[in-house]
Amino acid sequence: MTSQSRTVTQVIEPQRVSDGAGVKLKRSIATATLDYLDPFLLFDHFGSDDPDDYIAGFPMHPHRGIETVTYMHSGVVEHKDSLGHAGSIESGDVQWMTAGHGILHEEMPQLRGGHLSGFQLWVNLPARLKLTKPRYQEVAARQIPEIQRTNGVRIRIIAGSVDGVTGAVREIAADPTYLDISVPADAVFSQAIPRGHTAFAYVYGGEGQFGVNAAAAGTPVRGQKLVVFSDGDTVEIKALQAGVRFLLVSGKPLGEPVVRYGPFVMNTREEIQQALEDLRNGTFV
Ligand code: FE2
Repeated sequence: MTSQSRTVTQVIEPQRVSDGAGVKLKRSIATATLDYLDPFLLFDHFGSDDPDDYIAGFPMHPHRGIETVTYMHSGVVEHKDSLGHAGSIESGDVQWMTAGHGILHEEMPQLRGGHLSGFQLWVNLPARLKLTKPRYQEVAARQIPEIQRTNGVRIRIIAGSVDGVTGAVREIAADPTYLDISVPADAVFSQAIPRGHTAFAYVYGGEGQFGVNAAAAGTPVRGQKLVVFSDGDTVEIKALQAGVRFLLVSGKPLGEPVVRYGPFVMNTREEIQQALEDLRNGTFV
């Protein structure tokens, strides 16, 4: 069978929402347009020069049944949680948090020079791991491999493998790829993504042709948009004049029922009831 290049099935315009204690976000997954992109439950881009847009942060709140992935581009978010963890996520750092059975945490952006930008992705957990022990993979910027190809394409490998280099975050149920990619003007980026895995790109800067293949020029997309790919073996993107900068994310779909209640994502209503009960009884964590 010949290798098939994925095409673009949807281009999503992020919606402006306010979450936490009043943080302004651009949300592209978990909206009316795109509720769920199995296994991805939510995708937020936060970015502002105005501290009023973010300083209220995300005070103490619970999570169960999911993983949250925070990737900072600039600024600092301080966090602490019910397991006694505390620290900061700074420019270029990633925190891959497996909430599993339950965690209570706060995520508070700090005032350092004004500009704050970053991304949060929620990855669903399979039924068998929904109540797993909570776990963190905290990766400092310098520990994230960055490669440069001969055509000038630069790739930071947060998760997954590119050109024989494996990313910093390992052993995640969704077998994810999470890359931060910069493609200079007119250069082409190509990457294998396992067939059957869901894949999307979040274009945060510049412009490119997405889903290029032998038969088609692809779909022109300018930041900031989320691009959903069809199934296939590879993704190909050609940068236009300004170059293009985007995240490329993929993961294995679960195909399981999803019942959401804010920060709890389980398989049944009863399991959501149980989470609320555990929270009331103090048996959540
Ligand atoms: Fe959270």
